[in-house]
Amino acid sequence: MQFSFHNPTQIQFGRGQIASIARLIPQDAKVLVLYGGGSIKSNGVYDQVCAALKAHQWEEFGGIEPNPAVETLDRAVARVKAEGFDFLLAVGGGSIIDGTKYVAAAARYDGYGWDILSGKHKVRDALPLGAILTLPATGSESNAAAVISRTATAEKRSFLSPAVYPVFAVLDPDTMSSLPDRQLANGLVDAFVHICEQYLTVPTGAMVQEGFAEALLRNLVVLAGQFDQRHTLEWRENLMWTANQALNGLIGAGVPHDWATHAIGHEFTALYGLDHAQTLALVQPALLRVCFERKAPKLTQMGHNVFGLEGDNVAHRTIDIMEQLYRSVGVGTRLSDYQLDKNDVLHQVITALEGHGMTTLGHQRDVDLHTVDAILRQAE
Ligand code: NZQ
Ligand code: ZN
Repeated sequence: MQFSFHNPTQIQFGRGQIASIARLIPQDAKVLVLYGGGSIKSNGVYDQVCAALKAHQWEEFGGIEPNPAVETLDRAVARVKAEGFDFLLAVGGGSIIDGTKYVAAAARYDGYGWDILSGKHKVRDALPLGAILTLPATGSESNAAAVISRTATAEKRSFLSPAVYPVFAVLDPDTMSSLPDRQLANGLVDAFVHICEQYLTVPTGAMVQEGFAEALLRNLVVLAGQFDQRHTLEWRENLMWTANQALNGLIGAGVPHDWATHAIGHEFTALYGLDHAQTLALVQPALLRVCFERKAPKLTQMGHNVFGLEGDNVAHRTIDIMEQLYRSVGVGTRLSDYQLDKNDVLHQVITALEGHGMTTLGHQRDVDLHTVDAILRQAE
């Protein structure tokens, strides 16, 4: 184990915490509030933001879409540069927080913003930002990652920089009350797969990372089983905190990662517009079956410690149970669930991965395009 771990985001967790932004944002800051398609206007979150910011100078930028597009975000970047905002407040799900991270970084860069996603520009500086989370799923509220799409070229790319950790994140479970079931299920599945991407590699002997990952996975298994209780405060609190801990850097510190499911999934969103979590539920069980040999020891450990399985074929049964878990909350796991044609998918996804240079995925860089071909056929 060898790592440096520092998560600087202050978490404000619980009911009524939106009010705390009044003191968390510097009084003299000129604030731009960024949000999405309007859910915050109908569920009372926007009103709480207005009340909290009554002593601040602020304006707003709405209309950021799910899987935020650089074309939209660049309009916010232009405003920030022209009007001199010095603090950004993201109010929404992962798309809004990721989009705000991009705006924060691009506002401090004179070149072409997409350079940040293509890797040409390494982000070392960004405007300070805060987040009010309304959809527990991505962990973006307290991590250093952002995933941005470019509509013109059907691309979806990510960047990582310590400069875009939010200064604070408000996690008020009451904001979840307006979430449609589809988004709640998406959040649960996304968090589950985030843990897997940092855990389902090889046995590491890292007791803290593996033990905590297993505890978080068990939480999500329980929450999926209690999906009929999703309107209770306790259920919401537990999903919100579990999803946050799943991707705040802690369980992934000093252990191998395998983000192949996410990499393939991003192409599905860019090409077919599937929700992020839908792509994961589609790709992951198929990937685990195709890459079974190298995943088997950890799948067996997961079967024992997360699902309480004993006896024969634990690794195989673990994959079956995971797929069933996704389906149980209504997230499809097969191409046919999304009316996708296998031959079209094989051609489009593999061409896209190749075009993006994503030809050696997985923590051992051994998920090549032949393997992806087998995974896509397996997902039929
Ligand atoms: O735009 P509004 O009107 O707010 O509606 C949103 C959107 O339509 C709605 N929503 C959010 N909170 C709501 C609500 N509706 C009612 N009540 C509420 N409280 O939900 C829809 C989806 O929102 P979005 O932000 O897109 O969802 P999510 O949080 O799942 O974010 C997905 C994005 O995050 C990226 C994904 O690739 C995708 O682009 N990811 C970011 C990661 C990171 N930064 O670490 C890691 C993840 O693996 C993921 O890749
Ligand atoms: Zn994800």
